[in-house]
Amino acid sequence: MKVSSLILVASLSCSMIACENINETSEKKNLQHSPVISNQKDLHTQCNADSVLVNHLDLDIKVDFNQHKISGNALWKIDNKFHQKELHLDTYNLSIDSVFTNGKKVTFVLDKFVNHLGQALVIPIEDNTKEVNIYYSTGQHARALQWLTPQQTLGKTQPFLYTQSESIYARSWIPCPDGPGIRFTYNARVQVPKGLMALMSADNPQQLNDSNVYHFTMGQPIPAYLMALAVGDIQFKKIDNRTGVYAEPNMIDKAADELSDMGKMVNVAESLYGPYRWGRYDVIVLPPGFPIGGMENPKLTFATPTIIAGDKSLVNLIAHELAHNWSGNLVTNATWNDFWLNEGFTVYFERRISEAMNDKSYADMLWELGYQDLEATVNDLGKESNDTKLKLDLTDRDPDDGLTDIAYEKGALFLRLIEENVGRAKMDTFLKNYFATYAFKTINTEEFLQYLNKHLIKDNLQIKKSLNIDTWVYGTGIPSNAPRVPLDRFNKVSIELDSFLSGKAPQQLNTKKWMTYEWMYFLRKMPESLSKEKMVMLDKAFHFTSSDNSEIACIWFVQAIKTNYTATFPAIDKFLSSVGRRKFIEPIYEAMMKSGKEKMAISIYDKYRQNYHPLAQMTLDKLVLKK
Ligand code: BES
Ligand code: ZN
Repeated sequence: MKVSSLILVASLSCSMIACENINETSEKKNLQHSPVISNQKDLHTQCNADSVLVNHLDLDIKVDFNQHKISGNALWKIDNKFHQKELHLDTYNLSIDSVFTNGKKVTFVLDKFVNHLGQALVIPIEDNTKEVNIYYSTGQHARALQWLTPQQTLGKTQPFLYTQSESIYARSWIPCPDGPGIRFTYNARVQVPKGLMALMSADNPQQLNDSNVYHFTMGQPIPAYLMALAVGDIQFKKIDNRTGVYAEPNMIDKAADELSDMGKMVNVAESLYGPYRWGRYDVIVLPPGFPIGGMENPKLTFATPTIIAGDKSLVNLIAHELAHNWSGNLVTNATWNDFWLNEGFTVYFERRISEAMNDKSYADMLWELGYQDLEATVNDLGKESNDTKLKLDLTDRDPDDGLTDIAYEKGALFLRLIEENVGRAKMDTFLKNYFATYAFKTINTEEFLQYLNKHLIKDNLQIKKSLNIDTWVYGTGIPSNAPRVPLDRFNKVSIELDSFLSGKAPQQLNTKKWMTYEWMYFLRKMPESLSKEKMVMLDKAFHFTSSDNSEIACIWFVQAIKTNYTATFPAIDKFLSSVGRRKFIEPIYEAMMKSGKEKMAISIYDKYRQNYHPLAQMTLDKLVLKK
């Protein structure tokens, strides 16, 4: 096959090519189900892995906490099957020391900096080039890395490092083909300071290694955004034979108790959509600065400690990250424009796990809270905004700015709508086959829609009409046929809320059976103009200011800022001093900025900015410092 024709179609399915070491026949087979669509090129990678096969990485790095630097070499195994003259890899703020191809030093070019994307590393290659070895070190602005001082950890004695590579930040710690459509296997050797443990999205050690060097293997091909590393004073605790928890020593027991149902969760997920394909499933509970709730790094989910509420009430987040091992890690969005294929499917799957682990009324609460989030996002973005479409257009943008709740909640609702139309049994068979068919492959929105029609809708006109697929995928806002769930448990909450607002003492409210989601609904429905007096009454009865539940505390803090309930402010300050999860800190800072408390926001942010992950800093710099 000629390169020119390959490039056209291969960008649709380059992962299949990159990962499978395939021959021309299977290549053609893979390309058969890829319709040629003009806007499908991944615009967020400068890598030419669509014409040079990048199959495997041998990474050898040293983690230097003194200089905040990772340095070493990345050896890429490639196949220059289509006779290219250059290999282009993504880098962001990396120093490249030297490059060798097949063991010989070559002259490379670090191309001009492209906004959002970084610099392409251009390496001359020949037909027989099999190995490209890059010696490099990370820069001061590595967007994926957060270096914690001992003071910023729970144990206070050792430093900590973790990465967050999704969506396009792997390139800031490894020179790599950084597009979700390009998959590779990897081995790594990681040298760390004495007494620290290193973990990756790979087969992991369960004990400290005396030699300070850790070896990792990831035998299944993954895209670069799933490259992950954590280094710190970490312990392991087993849950069952294939699941376990990692955390700092003084968090490990709490974390293992909270996540003790993980083994069962994996079984439930398998019974829904087919085998778990990654061997072990472990979770690391990170220090509180971790910028997101959870990250689905294969074999090892990264999680925020804000889910450790003491009563398992927030473990749904683990269901979500676990579900990604099918939707996302196994079947991956081809470009970030197709992000809903990762997140919408995962939210749908997560709620099916939650329903099976708990009951329908429990999952219904998640659906409703999700619907509220969706409405809020659509209001925020505007219902005509292109960013409210499932199929996104992130051209010339940092994906970080365009990846919103739309992919999650509108995506999940779309799948729920399909389920309601075809019936659960058919939906489940369809999804199970979908995951099996596209395992370790990449898919874009249009390919999915074709597959959906071929295997589920089968040109059934009535179903087509009632789904109105184009409105969902290419239209803005929330379509009028969006499914809604019964509100049984929340209706009870509304009754109590009404009583409270019309004067009933909070102690008299019937809240005994409420769980976290009911409390969240209760607080979210509170009028913005609530009097300070009522805030005091609520706090006295329910102790929201000192809540250990981060979801509840966050809503309460926002409400407290809006109503100027100053008794809560020290608790807000404390929360913002350690928690780095963007989902919580952004609305709290935003509430300050929007309610005339800019000075308070700036002075708190000034104190704690260095505690936040570079990605959280980017968001908050815009919000608080208007940078
Ligand atoms: N994959 C995402 C996190 C992500 C998305 C990181 C886009 C960077 C760019 C992860 O699975 C996720 O969705 N986490 C959520 C949790 C969830 C229960 C919805 C989070 O962090 O809040
Ligand atoms: Zn997710």
